[in-house]
Amino acid sequence: MAMLEVKDLNVYYGLIHALHDVSFSVEEGEVVALIGANGAGKTTTLHTITGLLQAKSGSVVFEGQDITRKPGHAIVRLGMSHVPEGRRVFANLTVAENLRMGAYTRPKSEVAASLKEVYEWFPRLEERKNQAAGTLSGGEQQMLAMGRAMMSKPRILLLDEPSMGLSPLFVGEIFKIIEKVSSAGTTVLLVEQNAKKALSIADRAYVLETGRISKSGNARELLNDDAIKKAYLGE
Ligand SMILES: Nc1ncnc2c1ncn2[C@@H]1O[C@H](COP(=O)(O)OP(=O)(O)OP(=O)(O)O)[C@@H](O)[C@H]1O
Ligand SMILES: [Mg+2]
Repeated sequence: MAMLEVKDLNVYYGLIHALHDVSFSVEEGEVVALIGANGAGKTTTLHTITGLLQAKSGSVVFEGQDITRKPGHAIVRLGMSHVPEGRRVFANLTVAENLRMGAYTRPKSEVAASLKEVYEWFPRLEERKNQAAGTLSGGEQQMLAMGRAMMSKPRILLLDEPSMGLSPLFVGEIFKIIEKVSSAGTTVLLVEQNAKKALSIADRAYVLETGRISKSGNARELLNDDAIKKAYLGE
């Protein structure tokens, strides 16, 4: 069985049917990308997995446990961490305080070691550890949001458009860190509009189109797929 199994999810906002029988899976150790245009349902999918939204039908199974109706905090304790769209750092807290918040499920004795590990991934955060998070640049805030998510020592990391609004230089840096996090043993589910970047680091990918999975496959193959090139890669 896959590490994460999403099966036949149907999600509504009132009368709006946002997800239609969405099914996909993530194997342990993989980087899986979920790509799609604005409003395709990417964030809705992540919110349903992490317990922020309730599905009308369908199921989410994580490492053999049905988490479909579990609340978000219980899901974090099982080893799933979510970097939300738009970062959502605590603007008035310092960088170090934000990172410590990410470790709320961990024993106190382990926090210092995790902080050290996060600072190794993100030297910029260590340089700015006493700075208020609201004064960081967009790219630095994205790093902080990722670092904060890693402080819970997740088995799987869910990223919602980490490249959004960043300069090409920062996008490159963020994607390098995703690869490092993956090499260090964390499984990754990556939601992106930047399909080119996402497909270039992912093992497999799914395409979400108006709430439905329209295509899936090996990421390298999708990079060379004519319909994908035309619709998502601007070629
Ligand atoms: N709170 C809400 N109330 C009503 N409709 C919503 C709500 N949130 C999202 N939707 C609708 O659900 C659909 C999917 O939205 P979602 O945010 O999941 O898309 P997305 O793929 O993440 O898009 P983007 O790339 O712009 O972030 C859209 O049609 C959106 O308008
Ligand atoms: Mg979104």
